[in-house]
Formats: sequence, C-alpha cells, structure tokens
Amino acid sequence: MGLPDPQLFPVAAMADASRKLILNNRSALQYTLPCEPLKEKICAYMAGRGVDCSPDSVFLTHGAQQGVYLIAKLLLDLGSSIVEESISYPGFQHLIDAFLPVVLSVPTSPVDGIDICALERILKGGARPAFLYVMPTAHNPLGVTLPMVKRRRLADLAREFRVPLVEDDPYGSLFYGSISSAPIRTFDKNWVYYVGSFSKVLAPSLRIGWIVAPPEHIRSLSVIKEASDLNISTLSHWLVDAYLESNEFAAHLRMIRSVYRERRDAMNAALLEHFGSTATWIVPEAGVFFWVNLPDSVDASELLTTCLENERVAFLPAEACSRGKHKNGMRLNFSRCNPGQIADGIGRIGRILHRINSVDPQTMRNDFD
Ligand SMILES: Cc1ncc(COP(=O)(O)O)c(C=O)c1O
Repeated sequence: MGLPDPQLFPVAAMADASRKLILNNRSALQYTLPCEPLKEKICAYMAGRGVDCSPDSVFLTHGAQQGVYLIAKLLLDLGSSIVEESISYPGFQHLIDAFLPVVLSVPTSPVDGIDICALERILKGGARPAFLYVMPTAHNPLGVTLPMVKRRRLADLAREFRVPLVEDDPYGSLFYGSISSAPIRTFDKNWVYYVGSFSKVLAPSLRIGWIVAPPEHIRSLSVIKEASDLNISTLSHWLVDAYLESNEFAAHLRMIRSVYRERRDAMNAALLEHFGSTATWIVPEAGVFFWVNLPDSVDASELLTTCLENERVAFLPAEACSRGKHKNGMRLNFSRCNPGQIADGIGRIGRILHRINSVDPQTMRNDFD
C-alpha cells in the first residue's frame, strides 16, 4: 500500500498543537462550519505549487478518496461514461464502479504515462465523458510523472472538448528532483478539478483532503457531501491548521522527501541486484511506488501468492489495477520500510522470481504449492 512511515509523523509538533487546541478552542469539538484558516493555508500551499486559488474555490473533504467520489457524484449521470487509464488507481476503479459508468480506457505506460493521441481520438470520435481521471504526478501504480507538455495538452483537450478533468494529486509534494511539477490546474481553472491530500505528507488518519473547483460548484459539493456525511472532521482540520501555523511543515516536507529519496534509491539498487535483467522499471521522480514489468510468462498474482506463502512479502499485482487485463507487472512501495527492509524484501521476491522464471510457467504454481 501507499503507506507513509509512521516514524516520520510530526508527533511532537502535533501533540503540542492538539493540547493547546483542545484546551483553548471548544468549537473544535463542536458541529461547526469548515475551518476557514485551514482553507487559507491550503491556498498558500497550492500557491507554492503554482496554483492560484482562493478559499471560496476550496472544498475540504475526508481525504482525496472522498474528494474524487464527490466529484464523481457531482458530474456523473445515469449511463455516463468516464475516461480512465488502462492501468489506474484501484481505489478509483472501486469508487467509480458503484456508479456503473461506461469506462473508456486509454492506454498508458510507465515510461510516459497516458497516451494523449489515443485520448484525442476518443474525444474527436464524438465521445463526451462525464470526466477524465488522471494522476499527473507519481501515478499510482505506474509511478510516472507527466512532463509539462503533456499536462498542458490535457488541459487544452479538457477545454476544447468541454470535458472536466479530475486531477488526483496526493503525491504532488513528494518529488525527488529539485522542483515539483506544476499541477494541470495551473493551465485551466474552469475544466480542471484538482484533488489534494495531507495523507501522504502528514498522516492519513487525519483524513484531510481538498478539492479546488470552480466556486459555483462548491455549494453543490457541500449538498452532496452532507447527504451522507454530516459536518466535517473539525478537530483534524483545526489541528492541522495549528500545526501549519507553527511553520514546521516546510522543514517536515524537506525531511520526508530526503528520507524517501534514499529509500527510492535503495529500492532501485536492490532491484538491480536481485531482479537484474529479468525485469524492467523506471526510477520514479516522485511518489512512493516503483512499477516493475516482469517477463510475459510471469503472472504477478500467482507470484504474489507464492511470495506471501513462502517469503511473507507483499506487493500489488498488475491484475488489481488493470481490471484484470494485465498480468505481468507489480507495484512496489518504498515509503513504509527502511533501506535494510527494502533490500531484504526485494531479495526475497527476487529469489522466488528467479525460481519461477527458470521453470515452465505452466508448472509454476505446482512447483511452490
Ligand atoms: C491516487 C490516489 N488517490 C487517492 C488516494 C486516497 O488518499 P486519501 O488518504 O487522501 O483519501 C490515494 C491513496 O493511496 C491514491 O494513491
């Protein structure tokens, strides 16, 4: 999973902030309106990423997952279609399937992400999906970060064909080069719905995410949300607001980026040592995942069963994020474990991989059952 390392949570600063908050602000424990100061701080954070927005275009949610869900509820009608990449975030596939949409699948790759020409062909062919769902920075599970030219092109297509684009960006601040990539939202304010989250950069249990949407949609989002989820996580919101007030967030981000960069490099070194020429992968520029392409003969779901039973090590197989269509790929997480555990885990998967790769794939399961 895309778990952050709990050892890196800013517990001291949060403990301090929460004690002061609960003692001094009883309305943080009450039914209340969304936390305006937090919205302002989110706008400042977004400005740091190049996105110009005001609090009236920010809608607070219980994480990015709820943000995407609410946008889907807002935009989808019965029988609508949506555009999804052929390999995509399983959490999105689960949430969207509940709406029974027609899924228009666009090819994608771990090397350069969504195939824009294929998307353009679909739109030029007359399809008008309710929205396009993309993860331009640190795609989950492929790890790929789209170059600026593709981001601009996606915004242009959304505008030209009047199709909303949902930009899911929980990993946007976890970049390992010198700068972050500007969100697609920087190229269009009317057609791009941006979804952010503090889950990966602060702590997931806070359940704080946000949507940046055209202001005229904020009220509808609020009505949709309140139908099933009355009020908001006021305590979390004021806690994060108090934490951000302390000005420690920038240093915290620098620290987690530096730790995760080291872990990413440790995973790359371990893959080189233990997978060698059996597999291919791209070193991700951002996020928390490697995507590894395995030989055609390897079914990653079967490999997973064997790895769990024999080595107690887990990964996400391609089947789980491709609606069952791809078999020979795996998503590996590098944020949760330290470099020693990463080397050990990759070594263990590598051992199984070499054993099955040197036997007839037909007999692969029997060999280890
Ligand atoms: C692409 C993507 N979107 C959304 C989420 C959900 O994040 P949150 O905890 O903010 O709901 C995740 C979590 O793994 C994710 O990878």
